Amino acid sequence: MRQTLRTGAAWAALGLAGSAALAPVATAQEANLVINDEIEIVTKAPAPEHMDYVREIFSGWEYRSRETQDLQMDDFENPGMIGVDNARADFDTALGDGEESCASCHESPEALEGVRAVYPKWDEAKGEVQTLEMQVNECVTERAGAEPWDYTGQRMTEMVALISSVSRGMPVDVAIDGPAEETWEQGKEIYYTRYGQLELACANCHEDNYDNMIRADHLSQGQINGFPTYRLKNGKLNTVHDRFKGCVRDTRAETFSPGSPEFVALELYVASRGNGLSVEGPSVRN
Ligand code: HEC
Ligand code: HEC
Repeated sequence: MRQTLRTGAAWAALGLAGSAALAPVATAQEANLVINDEIEIVTKAPAPEHMDYVREIFSGWEYRSRETQDLQMDDFENPGMIGVDNARADFDTALGDGEESCASCHESPEALEGVRAVYPKWDEAKGEVQTLEMQVNECVTERAGAEPWDYTGQRMTEMVALISSVSRGMPVDVAIDGPAEETWEQGKEIYYTRYGQLELACANCHEDNYDNMIRADHLSQGQINGFPTYRLKNGKLNTVHDRFKGCVRDTRAETFSPGSPEFVALELYVASRGNGLSVEGPSVRN
């Protein structure tokens, strides 16, 4: 499955020339991520057994500048926590025209502790793998009878950030066997498929070249344990599928849409490459 870059042409097309495009930089800084002096985050771990070409996995936090890293160590500094606060208020707000809120059935966000760590997850009743967003929308529409939330909209993203925040420090542990296996295989295939004019697969950047520089960016392994991520670049919380979309676009390819079966499968596969890292969202990235 492993593919190497044929030539430097793709890298040149990204505005770089030959091997200069891939100048290795100093290895990840030796800092530990502890949030609020309290929540210890595992940002490096042995790779899960299913990964053939990577021995150690790293959170994207390892590749950010010291200043960006620091923002995530204190919830008062983390701009993503504003979204979490919004969602806390929303948790108690009536859905649609009805009287029911999330809190009517789930008591508090803390009641959903541990949920982020195991999603995407096989849903027996639906007979499909579901992301957290799909699960929330199932509650919004089928359980509370309200209109669905936009998959990558602010309301949904902030709610996902809240649900993630109460699981911070817990190990990512998505299941890839049993009924989820077929979807996982599909996601894996997408991960290794070259897309676009540049003919680049996710693996070309995030497996073959992590820790190298591309443009001004320090390439990470493209892990999703920190999502939603607050990006300094666009000043908001960003969803997993929007990030996938951006990365596919960078290869100059047509992309799948957020919430599509392809991106759900890819999310399951990419999440499984982070099994063993801590849930970290909302994280801060550039
Ligand atoms: C009318 C009751 C009801 C309302 C309102 C409701 N839920 Fe649920 N929710 C459930 C039930 C029932 C389940 C499935 C059983 C379970 O896993 O707890 C569930 C499951 C979930 C799950 C998956 C839990 C897991 O362990 O996999 C999440 C996440 C969730 N709800 C979030 C929300 C959010 C966020 C809201 C508000 C936007 C909400 N729910 C509103 C009843 C409700
Ligand atoms: C041309 C190289 C390239 C390709 C191909 C590429 N990415 Fe990325 N990706 C980047 C860069 C650059 C960043 C920003 C720096 C970083 O976090 O690695 C990034 C960031 C990410 C992040 C955010 C990581 C974090 O910690 O916030 C994820 C997730 C991601 N990519 C997933 C993917 C997936 C999945 C694919 C395949 C569909 C893909 N990328 C394809 C270059 C690429």
